[in-house]
Amino acid sequence: MKKRNDPAADLTPETEMPETYELSSDDNYDDGAKQKSSRKPFTTKVEDTRAFVVVPILPERYALVVDQDESERPKYRRSDEARLEEAAGLARAIDLKIIDSFLVQTSQPRPATLLGTGKVEDIAERIEREEIELVIVDHPLTPVQQRNLEREWKVKVIDRTGLILEIFGRRAQTREGSLQVELAHLNYQKGRLVRSWTHLERQRGGGGFMGGPGETQIEADRRMLQEKILRIKRELDTVVRTRQLHRQKRRKVPHPVIALVGYTNAGKSTLFNRLTGADVLAEDMLFATLDPTLRRLRLPHGDMIILSDTVGFISNLPHHLVAAFKATLEEVIEADLILHVRDMSDPDNAAQAEDVETILSGLGIKKGDERVIEIWNKIDRLSEPMQDSAENLSSGSHEDARPLPLSALTGQGTPELLALIESRISGAMEKVQVSLQPDQFGLIDWIYRHGSNVRRQDEEDGSVIIDVDMTAGSAQKFRDKYASVTKRS
Ligand code: GTP
Repeated sequence: MKKRNDPAADLTPETEMPETYELSSDDNYDDGAKQKSSRKPFTTKVEDTRAFVVVPILPERYALVVDQDESERPKYRRSDEARLEEAAGLARAIDLKIIDSFLVQTSQPRPATLLGTGKVEDIAERIEREEIELVIVDHPLTPVQQRNLEREWKVKVIDRTGLILEIFGRRAQTREGSLQVELAHLNYQKGRLVRSWTHLERQRGGGGFMGGPGETQIEADRRMLQEKILRIKRELDTVVRTRQLHRQKRRKVPHPVIALVGYTNAGKSTLFNRLTGADVLAEDMLFATLDPTLRRLRLPHGDMIILSDTVGFISNLPHHLVAAFKATLEEVIEADLILHVRDMSDPDNAAQAEDVETILSGLGIKKGDERVIEIWNKIDRLSEPMQDSAENLSSGSHEDARPLPLSALTGQGTPELLALIESRISGAMEKVQVSLQPDQFGLIDWIYRHGSNVRRQDEEDGSVIIDVDMTAGSAQKFRDKYASVTKRS
């Protein structure tokens, strides 16, 4: 763990800042909400569009392998029902009107349409009957498969990657977030430039100035996308540089950073709000949090930390997006502690945790990293026997790797979490006894702010004896302060 106990930082009067406060625009990622993106959203309007959600179930040997470096690990297979529920949830996240969602058993992926011919025809009939306008296929589709399905079904088809990009596009609030998603979207489009991309042809407007004679439409489209990509990359460079400057500034007061990570909807924002008293958007909506939020928080014995809420993770996150959000996840990479929030009431939580671990591992945070603490959230939704077994499982683990059962909604377990953060950041509690002469009384206020269980005894000679419980970090800081005061006198 990185050391951040710079005594100078501690000497700055803390009254300058409220206990929890929204970091100024200087401190925030890219000027936070104050510089909302002025770019037009690139997403299509689909509200109330009548849609089907199709979840292809392929035999295990065709299952997607996302985890390249740790394929040794036993994999939790996501249940079909959980996949179906998640896919429908994702579709609802862009306000589609889901008329039906269903599993489609597929013996092997067909290169032309992914699904077998009979299935494609059955679905075509249902599409016509139910007047469906859009189909979400919860699986990556090749450009050819997408085009063929659109032809067969005579409706627009979006695959999982396209859908997640669409959600991210809508949720991004800050300039950096929007630019990153737009970049990911353009890279995705570039990979699927086939002749059916008629809207690009229309955008080109037939001006004819972009390509020389003989340049095909696809080449022109590709070039146009490439130019757009370069433009966005340049703009991103500037935004990222500004953010890095702000971070450097923030580092001058080096409070430890605690990052919340977790599968989408695990309860990160609710926990963030519970701990900081902030009113961050906490909704039963996938990817409600896209842009990281930072807030300062005072631990029970006075030390300050910065808590950072980050984007929710999801299985099979499009690789364009993982790459795009790497920069935004820098806060996690460099965090002193990482709280992995898990929704223990979700039957699929083991598979979700594995997905989160895979993404963390891609960021260089390997399984077993001592900075990671698992938070078993939503225990209020578990039955009593389940709650007991969660408590038992947790207390049976090795102390440092112990998961912490908690309910961000009711607050159960949050004092224990704060105590745990404190002991990991500031060290275990120590009993300190000190005798202060009148010219050292200036330290008394500090002791009250950083200690607990303070007992003061006034002596006849005018000195006072103080017994106090302090974290090891505070005790060390106190000794340094005491030494400097003593030296002066
Ligand atoms: P993303 O922004 O998608 O990453 O979600 P998130 O992890 O920030 O989840 P959020 O805090 O928005 O919570 C999702 C839903 O779970 C909300 O409806 C919360 O009220 C609910 N929730 C969060 N924590 C708890 C909990 O401890 N118990 C219960 N019963 N519900 C909870």
